[in-house]
Amino acid sequence: MIKVKDLTKRFGSFTAVDDLSFFIPKGQVFGLLGENGAGKTTTLRMMATMLQPSSGFIQIHGVNAIDFPEDARAHIGILFGGETGLYDRLTARENILYFARLNGMELKMANERVERLAMQLEMTEYLDRRAGNFSKGMKQKVALARSIVHDPEIMLFDEPTAGLDVSAIRLVHAFIRELKAEGKTIVFSSHTMTEVMALCDAIGIIDRGKLIEFGSLHDLEKRAPGMSLEEFFLHRISEDRR
Ligand SMILES: Nc1ncnc2c1ncn2[C@@H]1O[C@H](COP(=O)(O)OP(=O)(O)OP(=O)(O)O)[C@@H](O)[C@H]1O
Ligand SMILES: [Mg+2]
Repeated sequence: MIKVKDLTKRFGSFTAVDDLSFFIPKGQVFGLLGENGAGKTTTLRMMATMLQPSSGFIQIHGVNAIDFPEDARAHIGILFGGETGLYDRLTARENILYFARLNGMELKMANERVERLAMQLEMTEYLDRRAGNFSKGMKQKVALARSIVHDPEIMLFDEPTAGLDVSAIRLVHAFIRELKAEGKTIVFSSHTMTEVMALCDAIGIIDRGKLIEFGSLHDLEKRAPGMSLEEFFLHRISEDRR
């Protein structure tokens, strides 16, 4: 369960995230759509307790994440786009295990988890190779496994499928569905309408820091009969800027 209320982030006089409020029940997948610079990553970073909000309230799995960031953090798995931050000299397995141990997992349990995640994400072939020479997609899958090895309740994924090939994208989608089936609450950002439509219980459109739409795909379809999500997205953004 995630509750966000009146969340705002200012950088100097610039407002990157502007008074965001939403609620995501346990076991639901929430997709954040927005153009470049809309405020998706900044929102996710605040929810991940990596960035202090200027104002507002965040509750993560029942924990007040503003006042008790470390407690909240224990329930969160975080994957951020761009640099995966893997250690080049460690193997995929070692990278994931290292993070598991940092999160206080017992070795036997961590080993079992790594094996399972490697199967789910089809990484067994290169699990014991050093990560330094991995392709972007291979690194992304290792980073994804690492981010949730400690089995958190809440998962925050910033553009989890950016730069992946078609089969890897399908695999990550199937993986997100499995996590949802396990009752995990997942928030991810994306630029891909089909991805958001295929995976999300709730969709948010963020523009210039403001959440200008929030609802199920069905809700959004009712608001704009006959429009595709892409048409609706572009229409709402141009409306918002008028
Ligand atoms: N540390 C920072 N200092 C100043 N401005 C920042 C900082 N971080 C983000 N911003 C600004 O906040 C705005 C939102 O950025 P953010 O990274 O959240 O966008 P985004 O929706 O994730 O975009 P993209 O789709 O390109 O990843 C941008 O204008 C960005 O320049
Ligand atoms: Mg971003």
